[in-house]
Formats: sequence, C-alpha cells, structure tokens
Amino acid sequence: MPLDIQIRAAAPHDLSADLLVVGVLPAGKSAALPPTLKPIDEALGGALSRAAAKEEFTAKRDQSLTVSTLGRLPFEKVILLGLGERRSLGAPEVRTFAAKAARAANGDKARSLALSLPAGFETELRAIGEGLELGAYRFTRYLTGDRKPKAELASVVIGAGAKLKPTAKAAVALGQRIGLAVNVARDLSNEPSNVVFPETFAHHAEKVAKDGGLHVQVFDFKEIRKRGMKLIDAVGRGSAHEPRLVHIAYTPKGAKKRLVFVGKGITFDSGGLSIKPAAGMGEMKHDMSGAANVVGLMAAIAAVRPKVEVHAIAALAENMPDGNAYRPGDIWGSLDGKTVEIVNTDAEGRLVLADALAYARSLEPDVLVDNATLTGACVVALGNTCSGWYANDEGTARAFSAALKASGEAMWRMPLLEDLRDGIKSDVADVKQMGERWGGSITAALFLREFTGDTKWVHCDIAGPASLERPTGWMQSKGATGHGVLTFLALVEGAAR
Ligand code: BES
Ligand code: MN
Ligand code: ZN
Repeated sequence: MPLDIQIRAAAPHDLSADLLVVGVLPAGKSAALPPTLKPIDEALGGALSRAAAKEEFTAKRDQSLTVSTLGRLPFEKVILLGLGERRSLGAPEVRTFAAKAARAANGDKARSLALSLPAGFETELRAIGEGLELGAYRFTRYLTGDRKPKAELASVVIGAGAKLKPTAKAAVALGQRIGLAVNVARDLSNEPSNVVFPETFAHHAEKVAKDGGLHVQVFDFKEIRKRGMKLIDAVGRGSAHEPRLVHIAYTPKGAKKRLVFVGKGITFDSGGLSIKPAAGMGEMKHDMSGAANVVGLMAAIAAVRPKVEVHAIAALAENMPDGNAYRPGDIWGSLDGKTVEIVNTDAEGRLVLADALAYARSLEPDVLVDNATLTGACVVALGNTCSGWYANDEGTARAFSAALKASGEAMWRMPLLEDLRDGIKSDVADVKQMGERWGGSITAALFLREFTGDTKWVHCDIAGPASLERPTGWMQSKGATGHGVLTFLALVEGAAR
C-alpha cells in the first residue's frame, strides 16, 4: 500500500504521530539544539538537551539521538537525525534522510511518522517523497502468522520549517510515485523464480505499462524465433518456462530525443549445463534485476512524463540444463547476424542482451543503455555496493556521469580495454562468448559492444548490488534493490532539458 503522505508548514511540537523524526542541521561547534525543539525539550523536562549534550550530538550526517517520551508528548519516541552541513546536502542526501526516517518507523513498529524539516528544504520535497517510499519498502508478502510484521508504516506527516509553495504537495506526490516505481523493480527482483518467470514477468510488465498509459508489446517464444533472436532461443530452450521479450514505449508528441533501456531478465540462472555450485545459487533469482529496473523505470517515466521518447526492453529467459539446452562448443547465430561460439552456458546474460541490443538498435536510439547482473568479476572489482559502467562515447559518458551525480547511486566507470579484445576472438565463429580468466567484466562489456554498432551506448554491470545483503543509503532489502533506476531517470530528465 502506498503511504498516506501529508505536508504542511509546522514546527515539530505541532505534529502528532507514533514516531517523530527531526532533521537537524549543525549549529557550529555547540551541541545546542535548534530553537524549534525547545517546546519538545521542555515537555520532556530537558531530557532531550541533556541527552544531546551527553551524546555530543552535533547533527553530523548520520548521527542520531533517540529519546523515549514516556507519554509526555503525542509521540512514543523522538529521533533527531543529523543532516550534516547544508552546503553538502543535495537531493540524494535528503532522500536518504527520509528513507532512514521511514525505515526507523517500520523498525519501531510505528504506524504513523511525523517528519520535521528545518527551513530551506522546500526545493527537496520530491527527494523526500522518494525516500519515504524507498525506506518504507520491505518484502514481506510470503510471511504469514507470527512472521507477518505486526505493524506497518501507513501514514506520514511532513512538517516543513517554512511556508510552502502551492506546488509542494505535487512535488512530494511525484517523489512518492518515483519511489514506488523503484519498489516495483525491487518487488520483481525479490520474487522467487517459481513465481516470476518470463511469462509472469511479462504479465507484470504489461500491468505496469497499462497503469501508466504506455504502449507495450510482448514477443512469445514463437515470435522470438520468427524474428531470429537465436541467442535468446539458445539460452531459454533448456527451461520449461519459455522466454519472452518485452518492449514498453513512451512516445510523447514533440519528443526530440529517443532513449532506449535494455535489461537482462534471467529469471533464474542455474548456469545451465555449466551448472553453478549449490552455494549461493538461490541468489540467482535476482538475475532479472536489469529487466526489473527497466520496467520500474517506465513506471517512473509514466509519472514524470518527460518530453523525450523512452523505451524499455526486457530480455527474459530462464537458464536451465536439460536435454534440449544449449551446450559449450555450440555455435549460434544472432539477431545481428554475427555467429557466436559458446564456451560456458553460465555466461548467458551477454547472449540474451546481444539480441536485445540488436533489437534496440533498430529503434535508432540517441542513447542506448543496458543494465545487467552480468559478471561476478564486477563484484570482485568493485565490491557489492557499487555497480560498474562502461561507455563507448565521451559525450554520452558525461551525460551519464551527470545523471549519477543527480541520483547519488554508486557506480564506477570501467574501461573498455582494447588489449582484452583478443580474448573474444574465435577460430570457428565471428565472436567468442567470453575471454580469458582475468578482466571478466571488461570482456563481457567488449562482447556486448559487438552488438551495438555505432550507437552511443552505456552498459551497467549491476551484479554487486543485486545480491546486496547490507543496507546502504536508501537500499534496504536483500535483492537487487532497483539499483540504477534513479540514475536512468536522471539521464532521461537530463535529455529532456
Ligand atoms: N548472473 C551471473 C553473474 C552474477 C554473479 C550476478 C554473482 C550476481 C552475482 C552471470 O550469468 C554469470 O554466471 N557470470 C559468470 C560468467 C563466467 C561464466 C564467464 C561469472 O561471473 O562467473
Ligand atoms: Mn550465468
Ligand atoms: Zn546470469
């Protein structure tokens, strides 16, 4: 259920909820609390200021102070959250602040949250709306009985520290829709593979498109074969669940640019005949996180309605071993026409992407972006809190960097090292599916590049955050967490300006 979010200009003591979270800016070196907290402190007999002095609460970013109100206030608990210096606070930090407040509320079994902001945050209300839904997110639908959360955050009142513009409510509401769009991606990623497989994923995507008034096409296995998407065929043929390709389109009148986003949608990656070890195989239910992201992105696009064309393409298959499965040593054609020598059936993501990229190219995009839980090597390189990205064009790279700055998501640029290109040369086919042992994220990117022609292209390897178990920033649940959606949205909004 979406949160019921209200906003008004109000001081902390004029609000009421199960939990009060107050964003506090540093007041120089002193541990002095802002004057707006005086009535709260007085109601608590000075306990708040005493605790702040004792804990040396100076409102540094991430610093927090919690006091129980013992029935003296309409709140059960008050949490002060340090915001850090104003000049270092952008939309991403404000979003994370709101997410932490919402997460704290759920953690405290609070059904209602009052979020108090200092004056001067009236331009960050969209980020607040985003953060609240992102932080409130939990994946609990399979918990029953005692395991079911007893309480769920349902309503939030935002107390702004200054008079509100008439647009304030709409800004919060838009942010909320964007947060919910990222949560669509997180839900799809977290669903197990017995529930979300190519066919059911496509149903979810169709629903998202219809709810947003977007055009959607689903290619079934017959259509995939008819169109010559031989690599999607190769990867998907060993599964009882047939592959699908989903294409969602947002085509506003007067658009001057077209952006196309492609996602890897392996609804389960067993490795195929090159089967994975048992340990950790369950994480591979998240191997469709890239596809989930592009669907979530389209939900956000439907809310923002920018003046550029946006397309999402999800390449969906389940990678399984069986008598009909593709094999190491096979040579397969592709939609692009190039032939590919298969080395390892566990390097399946780049294969479905190759066909999806070739299809995307036919839409003649100004920018083509793919995202995929592509390689363990990328996790080795960057850890599991940061994705890797590649670009074949410097102007596009600048735009993508700007989008990353706006979103605050952790992604590090990786190089398309030409020296490693020899690794994907094949003696028997046009290209080999994978390179030598080292530089696996880079050779995977070089393989994908073979299918992008001269299109301006960005590739994101999101394998790390996809199996994230630890919350960072607004990310909370285990699972791919929608990492990338906010950056892609920022890229689209940048192109629309
Ligand atoms: N889906 C995996 C990559 C992955 C690994 C994602 C860990 C998230 C966490 C991908 O299909 C895969 O199996 N890649 C292989 C490639 C190898 C066979 C060249 C890998 O990274 O080991
Ligand atoms: Mn694999
Ligand atoms: Zn995979």
